[in-house]
Amino acid sequence: MLKSNFTKKHLLKLLMENPDELISSKELALQTRISRQAIWKAVESLRSEGINIEAIPQKGYRLCSGKVESFSPSLISANIPEICPWGVDITLLNTVGSTQAYAKDFARKDCPDGTVFISTMQETGRGRRDRKWFSPPGGLYMSIVTRPRIAPSSLQLISLASALALRQALLETTSLSFDLKWPNDLLWKGKKLAGILSEASMEPDRIHFAVIGMGINVNIPESSMPSHLLSRSVSLQMILGREVDLTLLASQIIYSLFTEISLLESDDHEQLVRKYASCCTTLDREVEIHSDEGIEKGLAIDISSRGELVVKFPDMLKTYAAADVIHAPLCY
Ligand code: BTN
Repeated sequence: MLKSNFTKKHLLKLLMENPDELISSKELALQTRISRQAIWKAVESLRSEGINIEAIPQKGYRLCSGKVESFSPSLISANIPEICPWGVDITLLNTVGSTQAYAKDFARKDCPDGTVFISTMQETGRGRRDRKWFSPPGGLYMSIVTRPRIAPSSLQLISLASALALRQALLETTSLSFDLKWPNDLLWKGKKLAGILSEASMEPDRIHFAVIGMGINVNIPESSMPSHLLSRSVSLQMILGREVDLTLLASQIIYSLFTEISLLESDDHEQLVRKYASCCTTLDREVEIHSDEGIEKGLAIDISSRGELVVKFPDMLKTYAAADVIHAPLCY
């Protein structure tokens, strides 16, 4: 297990500003306001994450340029823009059953807003409605703990905000625009690239925490995709024909999610819902709704101000807060 923290993030940022340049330990101590001995400890810890820092006795430290081969939590943290307070505490788990279960344990123990748990494989990944989530090596599986200051009645909007954030992060890092399927699947030409599971603990008037779990098929080659999933799932590697930098993608997701949740907290729900609706490929389609009430067929026409799906039936309109939706093929 590898962990980032405030000191390592700050130190790495300073070194990254001047790659290949020697910076004295006196200067680093001054900037980070920690002792030279604490700097040495932090440098050792950064090295154990695979970051190549050269130490020259009596002179200082230098970040050697070149790609960091390993997936490093401190590097993810250092790549997040300064205005974002999330992603200071990032835990990278080599083996984990589910980052979601792991994160919920920490959320119950009061870990701070914006704490992140990541893995590149899961043994027992879980999806919505308690389904299994296929989590082979090369995927990005992350769970982010947040303590949003919004009314519990707006909880569904967290799902929508998360989908928008993931879409934006993917656009920034790959230049690809994904469709959103209500409530929060990301699709490429109708095939699923990523899914989001948001779970919350709350009282009638307050959300204690929400854990936003994202599973993204990133560096998964077609040969690793089971045949039963190939007709409905896709990975970034399959779309782009190359691997994607997991560090940059993870940093961008954390930053985009912080931005969207902050907007949600600022009460501009209408803007969020309109933005979501404009990328949501479920709308204006015949859909099959699988919910606790059974299976129904109708026309998806809108997203309500609470983030529910509005479906038109011959004799009435119905709204759904939680359901599985199957898109009927579009007829032109
Ligand atoms: C879905 O059913 O579409 C949601 C899938 C969510 C999977 C993610 S992967 C990270 C986190 N850990 C889990 O076990 N599940 C979520």
